[in-house]
Amino acid sequence: MDNRPIGFFDSGLGGLTSIPYLRRELPEERVIYFGDTARTPYGSKAVTTIRSFSTEIAEFLVKCNVKMIVIACNTVSATCLDELQKRFPKIPILGIISPAAEEAASVCEPGSRLGIIGTKVTIASHAYQEFIGRFDPQFRIYEEACPAFVPLIEEGIIDNEIMDMTIRYYMDDFVLGNQLDTIILGCTHYPLIKANLTRIYPGLNIINPSSIVIGQVKRILSERDMLADHSDFTDVFYASDLSENFINMIDHIFADSEEFNEKKVKFMNFDLEKERLNGLL
Ligand code: DGL
Repeated sequence: MDNRPIGFFDSGLGGLTSIPYLRRELPEERVIYFGDTARTPYGSKAVTTIRSFSTEIAEFLVKCNVKMIVIACNTVSATCLDELQKRFPKIPILGIISPAAEEAASVCEPGSRLGIIGTKVTIASHAYQEFIGRFDPQFRIYEEACPAFVPLIEEGIIDNEIMDMTIRYYMDDFVLGNQLDTIILGCTHYPLIKANLTRIYPGLNIINPSSIVIGQVKRILSERDMLADHSDFTDVFYASDLSENFINMIDHIFADSEEFNEKKVKFMNFDLEKERLNGLL
């Protein structure tokens, strides 16, 4: 048993899409979340930059004494997982791609046509192809970068014609032209536009890594006897730019959650420069 919190991080608010599944599956667990909202998006940046940002955040979470780190960001998982695991060998670090790849390999029928959508960096890395390839899939895989989705989602432009047009711009040829039957939401921001995708492409199966990763969290913690056993928690949400957008999005994502309605959570602004000067980073 281990009652320390689990650390989650993302380039912004995308990783928050995993938290309701954690609440549902493992209600006793407490969370420290870090959204790098001041430097989002990561998905069009150089890998060296993403590496240095994500190392800083992982170091911070380790200093917060988390028992496990979940990289709730496909872009970081695709590019920095091995390095973060090597750098922090004492703490389990889980990327979001491998659990989703395993799920895709098990649910897609032979002959399926599977699409992966994600940021430029995730798609260029072919990390999903590589992980799925380990299961010797009997289906075809297609990939498409959709870089304008994240800035729109961070701005809360979701239930809106601009978002629908952007989806069609990137995805009409991709989904319809390739006759896809299934897609993986290869960016943790994308579950926030799942309803748009279902409306625009009815009948398309959607695999959501933000929910699937929680099954792996549970497996790893129970194998190591590290599940928490009390529910007296306060989740803490750090953002490097604690903007109104970030707080509004938390309200939106957790609209049905009792803890959030009772405001049993803390929001903290994390001043990157100040913390760096203080030696915390
Ligand atoms: N949410 C992130 C992901 O899963 C990254 C978005 C971004 O910063 O570009 O890839």
